[in-house]
Amino acid sequence: MSASRPSVTLKLATSLDGRIAMASGESRWITGPQARAEVHRMRASHDAVLTGIGTVMADDPQLTARTDPAPARQPLRVVLDTAARCPLDAALLQAGAPLVITGRGRAAPEAVARLEAAGFAVAQVRVEALPGKVDPAEALAVLARDHGIASVMVEAGAGVAGAFLRAGLVDRVVWFRAPLVLGADARPVTDVLGHGTLAEVPRWVLEDVRACGPDQMESWRVR
Ligand SMILES: NC(=O)c1ccc[n+]([C@@H]2O[C@H](COP(=O)([O-])OP(=O)(O)OC[C@H]3O[C@@H](n4cnc5c(N)ncnc54)[C@H](OP(=O)(O)O)[C@@H]3O)[C@@H](O)[C@H]2O)c1
Repeated sequence: MSASRPSVTLKLATSLDGRIAMASGESRWITGPQARAEVHRMRASHDAVLTGIGTVMADDPQLTARTDPAPARQPLRVVLDTAARCPLDAALLQAGAPLVITGRGRAAPEAVARLEAAGFAVAQVRVEALPGKVDPAEALAVLARDHGIASVMVEAGAGVAGAFLRAGLVDRVVWFRAPLVLGADARPVTDVLGHGTLAEVPRWVLEDVRACGPDQMESWRVR
């Protein structure tokens, strides 16, 4: 954790060609049961698990750590949802109060009130000028300041994964690669990153590679 923000681990589960879902959005399951069990252990070892509203809409995940034995406490489950459009019957609600981080001035007060009445905790933060969505650095600051969060696991689609990478807010990437190739018609692992030249693209440092059932698990240090 730096002075102002929690440490951030980005988890990615892709095909060999870096695709996270079919064009239809179908992504369950690209990786096998061993990789998914590892993801549950990762969730248990972080203070918070953060996703985007796109993943909530597509997959309706619980984002709990389902390990055996169960962890002493569940991570705080967090959704970046600029306009407070999270469904009121989201599976996230099945395991305690998740936190929805909305955009100040972008979420209607009635939408926020509906979420709170349904059992969500709601925070409001500044939106980035472009692309007009929740500012990821502000979201991390709220997690540290108001919730005592020191470590965050980002488990999201290309939108939020791209936002954290673009902002230089990722410390570590854990990348599960499954033995299949989905092609350019499937969805990419990250949104645009906006690099101008190859020289300015940060190079990551490989820290560990191991087999995880039929998949490969790579740990990369980003910063
Ligand atoms: N294989 C994997 O590891 C994995 C993991 C998770 C999801 N997925 C797949 O990813 C797909 C969903 O992708 P997605 O990109 O829609 O999901 P996402 O990254 O989870 O959510 C994107 C949404 O988050 C909101 N958001 C809030 N702040 C943001 C910011 N600063 N930057 C970007 N977005 C922000 C935006 O909606 P608002 O503007 O309304 O706030 C945006 O549309 C699904 O098919 C899912 O199955 C795969």
